[in-house]
Amino acid sequence: MIRITDVQKSFNRNQVLKSVNLEITPGSTTAILGPNGSGKTTLLKSILGLVIPQKGEVYFNGKPTVGKWEHRKQIAYLPQVARFPENLKVNELIQLVKDIRESPGDERTLIERFSLEPFLNKSLRNLSGGTRQKVNVVLAFMYDNPLIILDEPTVGLDPVALIHLKELISREKAKGKTILLTTHIMSVVEELADEIVFLLEGKIYFQGSLTEMNALSQQADLEHSIAQILIKEAHV
Ligand SMILES: Nc1ncnc2c1ncn2[C@@H]1O[C@H](COP(=O)(O)OP(=O)(O)O)[C@@H](O)[C@H]1O
Ligand SMILES: [Mg+2]
Repeated sequence: MIRITDVQKSFNRNQVLKSVNLEITPGSTTAILGPNGSGKTTLLKSILGLVIPQKGEVYFNGKPTVGKWEHRKQIAYLPQVARFPENLKVNELIQLVKDIRESPGDERTLIERFSLEPFLNKSLRNLSGGTRQKVNVVLAFMYDNPLIILDEPTVGLDPVALIHLKELISREKAKGKTILLTTHIMSVVEELADEIVFLLEGKIYFQGSLTEMNALSQQADLEHSIAQILIKEAHV
C-alpha cells in the first residue's frame, strides 16, 4: 500500500530522516517506534504530504505522492498535535470536519463509546487534555478510510478510553484496514502490531515482528528490548 524509497528530510541543518526505505503491506498494522525526536512524526507526515522530503519518493498504491494530495482522501489521520480554534464547541468542530470531508462520517457511536455527550456543547478551551484527545480519536475514526495513521493516539487517555481505543483499532484491523501508529504504550504495540519499525537517528534500525525484535535483543518483552537497544547504542 505504501512504499517509501530513499526519503531524506532535513530541517535546516538537522538531518531528521536519512534515506528511509520502507514498505507497508495492505492490511497490516505497523508500530513506528523510536526515542523522542527520532523522526516518527516526520515520517508519518511525509506519507501525508504534510512534510515534503528533499529527496526520495512515497508511493501510495503504486502512485508517487510527493507534491500531491489526492491520496489524503483515503487516509484517516490523528495528528500528534491537533490545533483547532479554542472557541469552537465540540459539536461545531465535528460538523466542521464533516463539511470539509466529502464522504459522510458516522460519529454517533463513537461519541457514545467515549462518553462525550456531556461535552458536545462545550468549547475546546474548557476541555481537559484527555477529553480533547477523545474528540481527536472520534475525528480520526469517523470515516471509512483504507489507511489509518495514528500519531500518539494514546496520549492523555484514561484506562477505560485506552481500552476503547484498542478495541477500535482492533475492529478496523479486522476489517482489513492498513494501520500505522506511534505510541509509548507497549501494550498497544504488543496486542495490535503485526510489524515493528524502530527508528533511530533518522534510520530504520529494525523492522520485523515483535518476536523477532525480542529475539534480536534477547529480551522477554518489548519494553526491555527497546531499553536494551538504546543502552547498546549509548543514547541514554
Ligand atoms: N517543522 C519543523 N521544523 C524544524 N524542526 C522540526 C520540525 N518538525 C520536526 N522537527 C525536528 O525533527 C526532529 C524529529 O522530530 P519528530 O519527527 O517530531 O520526532 P518524533 O515524532 O520521533 O518525536 C526533532 O529534532 C524536531 O525538533
Ligand atoms: Mg512525534
